[in-house]
Amino acid sequence: MRVLSGIQPTGRFHWGNYFGAIRQYIDLQGQPENAFYFIANLHALTTVRDPQRLQQNTLDAAIDLLALGLDPNRATLFLQSDVPEVSELCWLLMTGAPMGLLERCHAYKDKKAKGLTADAGLFAYPVLMAADILIYDSTTVPVGEDQVQHIEVCRDLAAAFNHEFGEAFVLPKAKVLDTSARVPGIDGEKMSKSYGNTLEVFEEPKTLRKQIMRIVTDSRPMEQPKEPGTDHLFQLYSLFADDAQREALAATYRRGGFGYGEVKKALADLAVDYFAEARGRRAEFEAHPEQVRDILAAGAARARPKAAEVLLRAQRACGLKN
Ligand code: ADP
Ligand code: TRP
Repeated sequence: MRVLSGIQPTGRFHWGNYFGAIRQYIDLQGQPENAFYFIANLHALTTVRDPQRLQQNTLDAAIDLLALGLDPNRATLFLQSDVPEVSELCWLLMTGAPMGLLERCHAYKDKKAKGLTADAGLFAYPVLMAADILIYDSTTVPVGEDQVQHIEVCRDLAAAFNHEFGEAFVLPKAKVLDTSARVPGIDGEKMSKSYGNTLEVFEEPKTLRKQIMRIVTDSRPMEQPKEPGTDHLFQLYSLFADDAQREALAATYRRGGFGYGEVKKALADLAVDYFAEARGRRAEFEAHPEQVRDILAAGAARARPKAAEVLLRAQRACGLKN
């Protein structure tokens, strides 16, 4: 069994990324051989076209993951581009990837639907993702709902290759992350970088407090009882609260007679506290980027032999090597 997932370094992580994905990756670590996580900088290149920014985002993503609990003794963390075998396998898969299959993939399709022109990199994005997965004989790929289509493409490409050339690849399965953890943003919509409604995991506490005070709430009178289940401020509070705190706030909502300002202040206190330890660890890693680079290099050194083995298997299968 090998768990594998990738995260794009396209910006700083927000609460949605943490509760929807990163926390669950961390829960799945065990032995470094069995849990591979990489920073998908080759994929990010399809959108981040500023070299300094890509470098900075990549280092930040590594530091954030380590600070949040990704443990190099229990998982293998590396940069996608440090395993060049993956680009080569991508080409092998590309030669047999049906255009129609890729045209249906949502990142490309959505861009076309908006009348924008797409690059070949965006079009082939799912093929590179398939190579990422297949090259480590991955069995389990934890991803958000939005990525499930790409795992299906990966399985299709692997099955077609196996059918044509003999069993070269292990077929992976998606492990859909708990979507009940869908985190709302400050406007109540899904928290997302593209909606500009995020609260970042490592935001300065002072700034974070200000942003939390701006969470949109309704204008019903204070005295009126409110239903906690449908309230996004309550949902955000629940991410950080223990059962007793959650129950107590739910009772307050149902009773009425409270102001949202108090809830926001309580949320800010809990959130700042929740990430305090990680913030401390982040500061240490930030002061020693060479340590982070060493961890990434050691991760790549662990991942590469496996990648070389699977690439050779595929090259032999299709007649590039004997
Ligand atoms: P963004 O929408 O901000 O660009 P990404 O698409 O880069 O975020 O998110 C990476 C992963 O983080 C997603 O596959 C998903 O699993 C998770 N994620 C992102 N936003 C949320 C959210 N609001 N709630 C739960 N999970 C989320
Ligand atoms: N496309 C994924 C995302 O945007 C990141 C990714 C790249 C990935 N390669 C992967 C995820 C392989 C899982 C497996 O979230």
